[in-house]
Amino acid sequence: MNDKNIIDQIIDNIAEDGYIILQNALDGILVQNLYKHVSSLTSLTKAKIGRGSERQRVKKIRSDKTLWLEGKEESERTYLESMEILRQAINRALYMGLVEYEAHFAHYDEGAFYQKHVDVLKGSNKRLLTTVFYLTPDWKEGDGGELLIYDEEGKTVLAKVAPKIGTIVIFLSDKFPHEVLPSKIDRYSIAGWFKGT
Ligand code: OGA
Ligand code: MN
Repeated sequence: MNDKNIIDQIIDNIAEDGYIILQNALDGILVQNLYKHVSSLTSLTKAKIGRGSERQRVKKIRSDKTLWLEGKEESERTYLESMEILRQAINRALYMGLVEYEAHFAHYDEGAFYQKHVDVLKGSNKRLLTTVFYLTPDWKEGDGGELLIYDEEGKTVLAKVAPKIGTIVIFLSDKFPHEVLPSKIDRYSIAGWFKGT
């Protein structure tokens, strides 16, 4: 993500289309280390939906397991540093007022999915820009777990993204309903959000 061309490409696509799908945006060694790390974690827990009293386990809506990145391990730290560089570049170019970034690892095991939703939560510190970085090795056609990105009305599929290791998707959090199709294999990713004030 220190590559100026990649950052410029992200900025241009966000400005024009509101989203981008990109391969090999991060260093290959880092990506391998992230995969080794996430696939060895045993502390991921059932994902919850919403905030405060609304927070509940809704198996019908999503069935992944997650763990927030805290930067205590080196690949996590390097990943968060890359996102910090991106945050500053996007703010300089697009004045989006992104003030922080939060991210969690996600593991979808066989049959896990996430129904169509929008990422924006109510209240302050709004999620403005979503990132999903994929860490699923050897994904092939038929393995499922693709991300479907819909238009704002949620009717037309704009893109179907394979969760292949090394691919990153970035989109405006309030503009694109999206869903994760049931995965037939272990599917790993880092979902993250740049937030405003
Ligand atoms: C999410 C999400 C998409 C993906 O965690 O909010 O939509 O492809 N993830 O993992
Ligand atoms: Mn989402």
